[in-house]
Amino acid sequence: MPSISDTKPLATFFVSHGSPRTLVDETPTTAFYKKIGEYARKEGVQGIVWMSAHWETPYDTIEIASNDPNPPKDFVAFVPDEIMDYRINSDAKLATRCHDMLKEAGFNASLNPTATWHQDVMIPLRWMYPDWRSCPPMSILSVNGRFDPYFHLKVGQVLRSLRYDKILLIGSGGGIHNLYTVSWHHIIIHKDTRPRTKPIEGYAKEFRESLNESVVKNEAGPGLGRAVCRLLRHPYFVKCNPTPEHFLPMIYAAGGCASHLDAGYVNAFGGENWEMNTQLNSNFVFGIKRDDRSFFVEDESEV
Ligand SMILES: [Fe+2]
Repeated sequence: MPSISDTKPLATFFVSHGSPRTLVDETPTTAFYKKIGEYARKEGVQGIVWMSAHWETPYDTIEIASNDPNPPKDFVAFVPDEIMDYRINSDAKLATRCHDMLKEAGFNASLNPTATWHQDVMIPLRWMYPDWRSCPPMSILSVNGRFDPYFHLKVGQVLRSLRYDKILLIGSGGGIHNLYTVSWHHIIIHKDTRPRTKPIEGYAKEFRESLNESVVKNEAGPGLGRAVCRLLRHPYFVKCNPTPEHFLPMIYAAGGCASHLDAGYVNAFGGENWEMNTQLNSNFVFGIKRDDRSFFVEDESEV
């Protein structure tokens, strides 16, 4: 096995999975998923460890999905047949490896061999690997229901070394995710979440700017970890993310690139799109070389 010093670590990713329409509607977010798929094939990725916003565990626990291949999956609404038939390459061995690393670091971690896989993983996966037969082995981590950002940062830090073994760390959630404010009729009646029918409000603009700056104006390393954890104390955090479970997978992904060993690497904006007026699907890559333009997109936001 190569040592840490003589191999290049993989980047880590935060993806927003958006509404269920993201299964079928192309957006800058789905373009980012496709780029991750291309990157994974180019780098010879051997596995993926997701943190899933839709799986929350109580007290101080974290669970790791250790299903055999083709676990149960749960979607909401209008799933095309070809996606229902998608088989998930879940891998108990990879799960056990993550479990042992987390236990060793003091986490109250346990394996869950009967976990149900949700749309937060299935949506990006279906764009990254349109043919499920080419998908590498995978596992999922739960979000902890106490919503402590430093807990999720540490999970990423503990699993960081997997990056040297061609294991991708991906958090799947959302940048602004407030189901109390979204315009539900866009999806329920019009079945199109992309058109804007209300202006973006000031609080959302401010939070978006703070989020993007925290990621792209910090290099990878401990400063990145501190910056993204501080976002939970942003004056508009609760208005943007009244339940933080969709935000914490971003902290996990940043945690994978928040060591002193990551100094000199940078992070990048991966594009975004708004849905149902108030939901912001933000995407980021962490821990790339300064001259790596493969994920570069212009910030052509509406704000
Ligand atoms: Fe979600």
